[in-house]
Amino acid sequence: MDGTAERPGTESGMASEDGFDDEALLARTRAAPVLAGPLPHLDPAAVPDAPGPLFAEWLDEALVAGVPEPHVMTLSTAAADGTPSARVLILRGIDTAGCAYDFAADSRSSKGRDLAANPRAALTWYWPALGRQIRMAGRVDVLDRDAAARDFLGRGARARAAAFAGTTSTPLSGPGEYDEALRAARDLVAAEPDRVPDTHTVYRLRAQEAEFWQADPARFHVRVRYTRRPAPQGWTCGLLWP
Ligand SMILES: Cc1cc2nc3c(=O)[nH]c(=O)nc-3n(C[C@H](O)[C@H](O)[C@H](O)COP(=O)(O)O)c2cc1C
Repeated sequence: MDGTAERPGTESGMASEDGFDDEALLARTRAAPVLAGPLPHLDPAAVPDAPGPLFAEWLDEALVAGVPEPHVMTLSTAAADGTPSARVLILRGIDTAGCAYDFAADSRSSKGRDLAANPRAALTWYWPALGRQIRMAGRVDVLDRDAAARDFLGRGARARAAAFAGTTSTPLSGPGEYDEALRAARDLVAAEPDRVPDTHTVYRLRAQEAEFWQADPARFHVRVRYTRRPAPQGWTCGLLWP
C-alpha cells in the first residue's frame, strides 16, 4: 500500500499530508454499533459459587449461538522488566473444576520468554454477539512433556510442519525464507510423523481471579468477580461497578 489510494471517508477534506483522514475514519468507527443486542441477561443471584462452571456455561452458549472462533482468547504477559505484551491464542484445554485453562506455544517465543521470567498472565475472551467478556488471571505452569506431545500430535500435519519451520518471534528475511523452511518441515513431518519439537509447550493458567461481564443494551451491565480463597475454601464472589 502506498497510501495514495482513495479511502472511504476522505471526502471530508480533512486528509492530512500523508493521505489519512483520521477524523473521517474515527467518525465511521464511532458509528459502528456496539452492544446493540438483543443480549442475554445475567442474574447475579443465580451465578454458581465458582467461576469454572460459569465459564463452561458461557462457552457452551457461545458455541450454540455460533459465535465465530469462541476458543480464541487474548493472552497477556509481562516481561521481567514489566513490559506488557498481548496476543491471541487458541484455548487448548479446560479444567472446569480447577478453573484452569491451557494454551500451547513455543517456549522460545516472546510469550514463552515472558512466562519463564514471570509466570503470571491474564486471559481474555470477548464474544460480541452475546455481549460477554471473561477475564481470568493467575499463575501459569508448564505441563509435562506428555501433555505437550498429546497436544502436538493431535494437530494436523500442516500445523505440525509450521511448528518445525522456524522459531516464532525471531526476525525473518522475507516470505521466501519461510516458504522454503515450511516445505522442508513438511518433508520432515511426513518422514517422522511422531516427532515433537522440544520447545512445543503446553501452559496452564490457574485462575486466581475471574471476572464475567454481561453487557446490556440499555447499559444495565452486570459484572461479577470471583477471587480464589486459600484451599480448600473455594471462592469469594461479588459484584463490581461495570
Ligand atoms: C486466531 C489465531 C490463533 C492463534 N493461535 C496461536 C496458538 O495457539 N499458539 C501460538 O503460539 N500462537 C498462536 N497465534 C499466533 C499468536 O497470536 C502470536 O502472533 C505468536 O504466537 C507470537 O506471539 P509472541 O511473539 O507474543 O510470542 C494465533 C494467532 C491467531 C490470529
